[in-house]
Amino acid sequence: MPTSAKKRYLVTAALPYANGPLHIGHLAGAYLPADVYVRYQRLMGREILFVCGSDEHGAAITMRARKEGVSPREIVDKYHVLIRDTFQKLGVAFDIYHRTSEPLHHQTSQDIFRKLLEKGQFEERETEQYYDEAAGQFLADRYILGTCPVCGNADAYGDQCEKCGTSLSPDQLLQPRSALSGATPVKRPTTHWYFKLNEHEAWLREWINTGRLEGKQLHDPATWKAHVVGQCNSWLEQGLQPRAMTRDLDWGVDVPPEIPHSEGKKLYVWLDAPIGYISATKQWAADHRDNWERFWKSDETALIHFIGKDNIVFHCLIFPAILGAHGEFILPVNVPANQFLNLEGAKLSTSRNWAVWVHEYLEELPGREDDLRYNLIKNMPEQRDSEFTWKGLQETTNTELVGNLGGFIQRVFVLVHKNYGGLVPQANPEQTFRSGWNAEQETTIDRELFALAKKLEAMGAEVERFQFRDALRVLMEISSAGNALLQFNEPWKATLERTEEVRAVLFTAIQYAVALSAAMRPFLPFAAERLRTQLNLPPFEDSGELVALINDLLEGNAVLWPNHPINLPEHLFARLPDEVIEAQIQKLRTAQPPAQTDPPAPSPAAEYPPVKETISYEVFAQLDLRVATIVGAEKIEKADKLLRLTVDLGFETRTIVAGIAQHYPPEAVVGRQVVVVANLAPRKMRGIESQGMVLMAEDAQGRLSFVRPDEGWPVGFGVR
Ligand code: MF3
Ligand code: ZN
Repeated sequence: MPTSAKKRYLVTAALPYANGPLHIGHLAGAYLPADVYVRYQRLMGREILFVCGSDEHGAAITMRARKEGVSPREIVDKYHVLIRDTFQKLGVAFDIYHRTSEPLHHQTSQDIFRKLLEKGQFEERETEQYYDEAAGQFLADRYILGTCPVCGNADAYGDQCEKCGTSLSPDQLLQPRSALSGATPVKRPTTHWYFKLNEHEAWLREWINTGRLEGKQLHDPATWKAHVVGQCNSWLEQGLQPRAMTRDLDWGVDVPPEIPHSEGKKLYVWLDAPIGYISATKQWAADHRDNWERFWKSDETALIHFIGKDNIVFHCLIFPAILGAHGEFILPVNVPANQFLNLEGAKLSTSRNWAVWVHEYLEELPGREDDLRYNLIKNMPEQRDSEFTWKGLQETTNTELVGNLGGFIQRVFVLVHKNYGGLVPQANPEQTFRSGWNAEQETTIDRELFALAKKLEAMGAEVERFQFRDALRVLMEISSAGNALLQFNEPWKATLERTEEVRAVLFTAIQYAVALSAAMRPFLPFAAERLRTQLNLPPFEDSGELVALINDLLEGNAVLWPNHPINLPEHLFARLPDEVIEAQIQKLRTAQPPAQTDPPAPSPAAEYPPVKETISYEVFAQLDLRVATIVGAEKIEKADKLLRLTVDLGFETRTIVAGIAQHYPPEAVVGRQVVVVANLAPRKMRGIESQGMVLMAEDAQGRLSFVRPDEGWPVGFGVR
């Protein structure tokens, strides 16, 4: 069943850890795409519930508390409020912003735990785990530091090396030490409940790749992003293992106390956090005298999780497995995860303060919420990592918002006031003029409005496909067409003979302004509301305004009638001046020196290999090099140097076997852009046909690095 055929939507955005403020990477990754999607669906008259809240458990919180020397409770209370208010000020329109420290959430999580236990989904296991004798406690993975076995980083965490991106377990760390006391931890026995994730591997694989479960088609796999499916398959290929769902901690949801051995045990944060979506729905339903189960237990609900790529396995494999094992809940129809946003040529880093903090932005650039939203949507890391720059923000604000969109609205308002005293003019439906879509083409009001409606539909289709960059582009094409309509017809030359023509043009232009006010609302909610006021229309209720408008326009009907009085023109957007941008760049530079997007290798005292024999240009030109994106990567059994890559060339997808396994773990290469030799004769390696080669740079120590184009470069085209 296509998503649009569902009766209602339940949209979730990853619950942010309440352990620090939001930065622009969070917004671009999960919250803006979710907000655009939800606002659009509301304007299309669909029933949609948008839930989020604070993730208040886990090591992320307790570590922060230790650092600030306060209790976990103080940390979550402080950041919950800061984050909630930041979202609200930026116009991210959740129906509820809940918190996982609420009793309702604890109960909900415990009930699910009980049910899983009852259904035999857990296995109780005694294992040896690291214990810090100095601090007198078991160490969560995050509390164990040591040397990364893959890249040698001395400060890798027990769950992950942040330098090379490899997922680790504490046992893989060399020279482990406790982050609490610095002591070498010792092993102690402890019992925990392991969820039998392995038993769910087969159906998860089928469900992810085909959308089918027990003979039912639950989603169309073609609508899922390639990098999301690719990452899931990398995990599935490595085989799913039973996973501990409890921890020895003193902060979190208690393992239900009636269960034997539960004392001192808490639920694993990645078990309780996604259940937070359910608790939030329950709370919303309680507040609105509604029934939460119609959202979570009905095939007529389309559940969609918006997240960043670091959350993919939890939302596409582990949480679905939990939901499936529980048996009463629906599964997501899509998980449109985004990749990462970089900042001024370097990775965002909270610890280095290499970030744009959203609450600071809102204070320092007041009234510029939409400027930021626009720029982040335009640069959203939908298929691959992308970048925010302050100069870029200035450029999109001044050229696209002030120039294109703001300029169009301003001109329409000025002309309607000048010619008709601020009243929408009467126009003759037979009158012809030049189309804003094509200067060579004669058009009439109804034909022009039909073309406009088609564009609005095209914009919506992009939103439905989670292609928010493209949707925004279509929105701006409408504004450009509005400008072109004025440019081609020059209504400012209102001579007596042209009276009828000028009326028709301005009548049409004002219809464009009304259409834009609705169409821009998902992206630019504040400016949309201002435009609405200028048009002297009632405020948005976010209930079907856009679909009503499209239906009128398709019929060639007007959406604002003659003699409707509009208000005086006011600038919709303001230019972003150099000083403001310079000050922000300055602030960033004094924060910390940036780490490069990919840390550059220290340059060795090189032994350069000799240059090979000269070849002719013709020989070189025989090489067909193409830009491509790695969409999947798996280890190859018994070949510790090789990765099997799935590479998207735009026009086709290929399998390439690459000797890079000792340099990059599979999960770190998915989503990367590379250069591929596209016309190399295929070759079998370990029984797999390799259909090309990925270009790699190699240094004196034999380390490898990808050769890749600028960020955001289109795939499939040549390299010369
Ligand atoms: N707090 C997690 C993070 O910031 C996201 C939790 S999403 C949820 O990465 F599903 F668990 F809620
Ligand atoms: Zn590493």
